[in-house]
Amino acid sequence: VCWVSTSVHRAQASLSWTEKIYSVAAACVTHRSRGLTIRMCVRRHVWSIGRQLLDSFKTQILDGRATADIVLEELRVEVSSKRSLWGRSPRLGVILAGDCPQSRKYVEIKNKAAEYIGIECVNLYLDEDEKRIEREVLNLVQDDSIDGVLVQLPLPRNVSQDKILSLVPAEKDVDGFHPQNLGLLALQQLSTLRPWEKRFARIEEREERVVQESRYEGIVPCTAKAVISLLDRFDIQIKGKKAVVLGRSSIAGLPITLLMMHRGSLITNCDLNSSETLVKRVCQEADIIVSAAGCPSLIDSSWLKSGVVLVDVGFNVLEGGSVCGDVNFDEVMTSGKASWITPVPGGIGPMTVAMLMDNTIQNATRNLSPETLESHPRFKTLDDLNL
Ligand code: GUN
Repeated sequence: VCWVSTSVHRAQASLSWTEKIYSVAAACVTHRSRGLTIRMCVRRHVWSIGRQLLDSFKTQILDGRATADIVLEELRVEVSSKRSLWGRSPRLGVILAGDCPQSRKYVEIKNKAAEYIGIECVNLYLDEDEKRIEREVLNLVQDDSIDGVLVQLPLPRNVSQDKILSLVPAEKDVDGFHPQNLGLLALQQLSTLRPWEKRFARIEEREERVVQESRYEGIVPCTAKAVISLLDRFDIQIKGKKAVVLGRSSIAGLPITLLMMHRGSLITNCDLNSSETLVKRVCQEADIIVSAAGCPSLIDSSWLKSGVVLVDVGFNVLEGGSVCGDVNFDEVMTSGKASWITPVPGGIGPMTVAMLMDNTIQNATRNLSPETLESHPRFKTLDDLNL
């Protein structure tokens, strides 16, 4: 029993096997009817070991929806406690151009979350006229009562995404798309954490310093922040792990790769321009896989090392309207190979919305709070830097 108990508990570092052996020994000494006590203790102990063994083979769910609800509640409390100091609610301008039903749905979800935590949304539903979109973005950007401007992507085909996004300055950026924000991220000068969130993370010394110096000035892209925040809140270690990120978009793949790198993982970034066989081989060695490839059910259990953590950023809308991620969820769950997995929907999506709200509050805090204005000089723009 001791041998089995020792091996199992050594395999599961989070359990204290010495305590359990100690408790069995203590029970044996203190009870007079030793034979019966020992038999009962041994039986109970073997039973609990069996259950722990079975549990260790199960894949557990990284529940993004439940975690996002907790984050939104924290943000709601923050907004309600600071509203009197600020003199108004944080305000988010949202531009939706064209008639993509999926984008409309995303905007509705963002509106609902904003309403819950006390952020006012100013929604503009526009058609495909580029000039009009430009004008409306500039109006929102120049409005001092608006803390953040979100241009829902993708824009209609005839509208230049680069041109429209370039109209949103860094201080009104809530997506983290602005070159200044992405630059600060690349230079490791942005934290995914608020100072009080440190308890959730096994953070790198460098990030600890960034938090302590209150260099919480720039905006981290929402999806990347969602991935790291979810791993942090489930106490999943990133440092020292072999991680693979699939996808290189500036919305998801690139910032996720940078953040995982800054957190000290041994990171490989791939996209499907490399052969699928090669990408699969790299994944088979990974401790953590984050897939933002946008390829329905690409990853099955044959791609996975036992115990891998799978974070599925993919959100693929299939014919008929159903959605699935980049991971073949049912097959992977049946195989039991992964230790943790995010579902789609209900994984990274809700966390991304929560991080958008967090970014909006971050901008409002900078804009509205006198005490923060003292400790954070106003966000510098590229013009201020005289580049
Ligand atoms: N479309 C899909 N994801 C996003 C996002 O994170 N931000 C914006 N603005 N548009 C999106």
